[in-house]
Amino acid sequence: MKVLLFITISYVVQCWWDVGHMMTAQIAKNYLKDNRPDVLAWADSLVQDLNPLTDGKSNTFAEAAAWMDDIKETGTSFMNDWHYTDRPINPDGLLIKLDDQTRNINSIYAINQAVSVLTNTKTAKNRHTVFKAQMLRVLLHVIGDMHQPLHDTTFWNASYPNGDQGGNFMKVQLENGTLVNLHSFWDAGAFAFNPNNSFLVRPLSQSDQEYLNKWSLDVIKKYQFTKYNNLDMTNPTVWTYVGYRQAIQFVYPMIANSNSYNKDYVQQAQQFCEENLAIGGYRLAQKLIDIFDQIIINEAKLQSEY
Ligand SMILES: *[C@@H]1O[C@H](CO)[C@@H](O)[C@H](O)[C@H]1NC(C)=O
Ligand SMILES: *[C@@H]1O[C@H](CO)[C@@H](O)[C@H](O)[C@H]1NC(C)=O
Ligand SMILES: *[C@@H]1O[C@H](CO)[C@@H](O)[C@H](O)[C@H]1NC(C)=O
Repeated sequence: MKVLLFITISYVVQCWWDVGHMMTAQIAKNYLKDNRPDVLAWADSLVQDLNPLTDGKSNTFAEAAAWMDDIKETGTSFMNDWHYTDRPINPDGLLIKLDDQTRNINSIYAINQAVSVLTNTKTAKNRHTVFKAQMLRVLLHVIGDMHQPLHDTTFWNASYPNGDQGGNFMKVQLENGTLVNLHSFWDAGAFAFNPNNSFLVRPLSQSDQEYLNKWSLDVIKKYQFTKYNNLDMTNPTVWTYVGYRQAIQFVYPMIANSNSYNKDYVQQAQQFCEENLAIGGYRLAQKLIDIFDQIIINEAKLQSEY
């Protein structure tokens, strides 16, 4: 029984959040297509660079957003800590030991590394390098992760003296009785992202791509860019607070009362996830614009030095 449960959970972890990542990238793509096609063309060309070296499941701009999860399966673990920032929720004020991940090597670090490689003044805009191709995919992925509340925190109390690893040690019971870990529940957008097991499986078929595109346009329409005029679009440290606040105000309080199915909770969780996809997509687009514009400025400077 225990083994069976473990299999169920690991399946959830690996498969379902792909959809959230692809949606974030697709929203960014559609935003760029309308506003900065030059930036989209540049970013997409960097995505393509890596295609011959991957498994054929991340060849498009949207699918490439899941690449950072794919590489875990090939034994590439050095970027595992780049997917989250474990800012602690510690309501009882316990003495806790913050590790290196929390302080230094985290999702904020990942974004800063990517920006640093992509804007490097020694490699011209049209010069493609293997790390530029990788770091572009890091941006596509990690900005999505940052907008999943349980990638922005870890909860501590006497029951979790070493932290709950972003909800991975807590369980929720779904409507059909299945227990899943809280982290997976949120990775799956409270199951808004997987109406069934054959939903948007990579490599995406033509009709899946059309479905993803239409869904992203619906989300863009529902959560319009202008609504987020007052949000920080440049600072990844600030971005991690959206999810952190949602975790404090919503994700954990429900679990504290009951860990079993609650329709209102699921509905609100799905709404948070959907809006976070929009915000994450817009921030991804803006980050790509900022990087591209910085590259242009760098090149102009170089030109004037000669
Ligand atoms: C319960 O629902 C989840 C989420 O939709 C699904 O993945 C799981 O297979 C279901 N379990 C059973 C026993 O039907
Ligand atoms: C899975 O869900 C998608 C989207 O809701 C739907 O179009 C498709 O027909 C479903 N597939 C199956 C096998 O139920
Ligand atoms: C720790 O928090 C969890 C989740 O809110 C709760 O179920 C548990 O009772 C808490 N433990 C203690 C010792 O307060």
